[in-house]
This record gives sequence, structure tokens and C-alpha cells, in this order.
Amino acid sequence: MTLEIRKYPDPILRRKAREIEKIDDATRELAHQMVETLVARRGYGLAAPQVGVLKRLIIVDVEDDFHILVNPRILEESEERVLGIEGCLSIPGVEAEVERAPSVRVSALNLDGEPVELERSELVARVLQHEIDHLDGVLFIDHLSDAKRLMLLKEYERKKKGRRKERAYKPVSMPL
Ligand code: CO
Repeated sequence: MTLEIRKYPDPILRRKAREIEKIDDATRELAHQMVETLVARRGYGLAAPQVGVLKRLIIVDVEDDFHILVNPRILEESEERVLGIEGCLSIPGVEAEVERAPSVRVSALNLDGEPVELERSELVARVLQHEIDHLDGVLFIDHLSDAKRLMLLKEYERKKKGRRKERAYKPVSMPL
């Protein structure tokens, strides 16, 4: 079963997610549904608040295997910053260049409750930072200048209206 993805400006995307104290069947079920949702939407990553659950759980799908990370934390990040294009399943249709640390060291628990540590660079590092941001109610647009954010959100609203119109016209099969 795939889950509904909350879209900007849904207020839940701005709330801080809670630590997961006990990894139980509900946690594992949520993780699996998030994996299915991410695969269906062809995204690189997904955080639980994006599916309406304020728990600290993220999925990252950039490498061969999924990373399912419970209570992920950035332990260390390189000091330099690099620009890279980002988008977000919760802000569909727009992208922007965002400054991030090129490499990070992240600690978390896996679904068996075992501690894991990842040291990654490039795209995986970027996705890890993006998803961990979601757990604190931070979106990629928050890393842009005010002017850039405004422009991007205008474009987002315009595309959203366009999509609504498209949907409204779809059931009409009469050639015009
Ligand atoms: Co996102």
C-alpha cells in the first residue's frame, strides 16, 4: 500500500518529529509502506512527516540497498559547501540549487534496533541531509535566499493550478 504524500504548505511538514523509543511492528509496517511509496514515486528519499507521521524515520534509496534509518543524527559534516539540484516529493514540480555539506557521518538505528553508522559523500550525503531536515520541519526551500524562495513558490503555485486544471479536463474525452 502506498501512502499519501503531504504537500507544501501542509503544516505537518513544519513540525518537529519525535524520537522513536521502541521499534515495534507499527514502526516496521510504516517503514515498509514508506519504501513502497518511495519506489512508486521514484524519489531518492522520504521522511515520515511527509506521509503525515511525526516520527524520526527516513528512507534513502540512492545506493543498491535502501537505507531505513530510525532516529538518524548527523554526527559530523565537512565544513565546505557544494551546490546541487534538489527537489522534494512534498513540493512537486520545482527544483533549485541548494548548498550542502559534501560529506556527512550519520548515526541511526536499523529496524532491528541495532546502531548503524554511515559515512557518505555526494548524492547520498545530500539526500541524508535533506531527509534529516524534514524531521525538524525544515524544507529545501528554507536554504534558498528570500528572493529565490519567493520565485520558486510562485512557480510551484502556478504548476499546482496547472495540474488541477489538467485533472479537471481529463474525464472529458470529447475531441474539441
Ligand atoms: Co523532501
